[in-house]
Amino acid sequence: MEAPQYEVDLFKGWPATKLLPIDYLKTAVAKKLSDKTILDGAFGYGPNEGHFPLRENISKWLTGHYSPPVPIQTDQICITGGASQNLASILQAYSDPVYTEAIWLVEPCYHLVFRVFEDAGFYSRLKPVPEDEGGMDIEALERSLEASRLANDESNVAQQKSTKSSRPSRKTYRHIIYCIPSFSNPSGNTMSRSRREALIRVARRYDALVICDDVYDFLCWPTEPTNNPASNAPLRLVDIEQTLDNGPIDRFGNVVSNGSFSKLIGPGCRIGWAQATDSFIFGLSETGQTRSGGAPSHLMSTFIDDFLETGFLQQYIETILIRECSRRYSVMVSAIRKYLDCVDISFSPDPDHNTTVGGYYIWLKLPSPLLSEQVCARAMETQNLVLGCSSLFVVPGNCSPMEDVSRRVRLCFMWEDEDKLVEGIKRLGAVLDELINETQ
Ligand SMILES: Cc1ncc(COP(=O)(O)O)c(C=O)c1O
Repeated sequence: MEAPQYEVDLFKGWPATKLLPIDYLKTAVAKKLSDKTILDGAFGYGPNEGHFPLRENISKWLTGHYSPPVPIQTDQICITGGASQNLASILQAYSDPVYTEAIWLVEPCYHLVFRVFEDAGFYSRLKPVPEDEGGMDIEALERSLEASRLANDESNVAQQKSTKSSRPSRKTYRHIIYCIPSFSNPSGNTMSRSRREALIRVARRYDALVICDDVYDFLCWPTEPTNNPASNAPLRLVDIEQTLDNGPIDRFGNVVSNGSFSKLIGPGCRIGWAQATDSFIFGLSETGQTRSGGAPSHLMSTFIDDFLETGFLQQYIETILIRECSRRYSVMVSAIRKYLDCVDISFSPDPDHNTTVGGYYIWLKLPSPLLSEQVCARAMETQNLVLGCSSLFVVPGNCSPMEDVSRRVRLCFMWEDEDKLVEGIKRLGAVLDELINETQ
């Protein structure tokens, strides 16, 4: 049988272009460009921490959305070129491949961060930490950190000195922990409040920086209808840290939140923000690359500021984006239940096991004995269907990922239109039937 002519791509983790607030962006650009007071500054180099009005508006917006125990201050925010660019900047400012022992990453993990860590000098020092429905396994992380400490004490690695110049604005952490606490990519899992607190305490004990990739944090919705979707937003680690056990243990703290407008306004804008203690944010904006030219995306910052100044962004997230995410998620869940009715199909996040779900992805568990690689290859070959193969999300160097991971595929419900989401799941059903028949 020939593969269908048109492709269905359930791998691509992009927002569908038609969901982006392009008309509003046009208005914001025209408005800002016709304002003489803004124009001169916007086309020049900007401040190291980024466009001040945008930083101020982000701090108010986040405070309004999350109601953290302590309101977020403007000097706890700096503007970035998006989460990926800023991950590299964080490593530049706060890690050292000689002094920093290892990078601990949640597994399964967003695959495109691996090279960022490798580029920063940590090739072959990426360590997986397993995850379950409650998020990263913090006890497993602590056991590994302790084992690493004992091993390094014996081999005197702990005596290594940082190779970077010491500056009052800089600190080098001994460990880096990378996680996606809410609606993780690829698993859709969310870390519980108790694990968030446990993670901060572990980070403090082992001199670790927790980099929270919070890019999906705003995109959550209740599995049962309620009037206020915002009330379902879990508190971010960066906010919890402010008051946990009397607050940060030093002026830099142990948590940074990496936020992004990519999934809210459009990836092409290449703009995001970081939130941490004021000293951490100052240090982050003092890297050589930022001091020569100011924060990235300065012109775009002035346009995006209008989205916050007028309150448009929050309204758009609540009334359009979340509704659209939630509708597409439900369409995919219904299609899975209808067309993949093999007995042992399961997936996360599952609306039957969660009061709140979110993000862009469903992490589907294949029926035994099928494996992800086999299913993805056959889907491409016979159904013109692109799926996210689980091996992509395994931390490089980990030769024995949990068995569960090898039987998963990632499905994105935000790129293709709804009819293609259903068509994609139907095609996946045909692939599974075919492969199951072959094994019998
Ligand atoms: C977990 C995660 N972090 C970061 C990014 C990229 O963010 P940005 O566009 O802000 O670099 C993505 C994009 O898919 C992602 O899934």
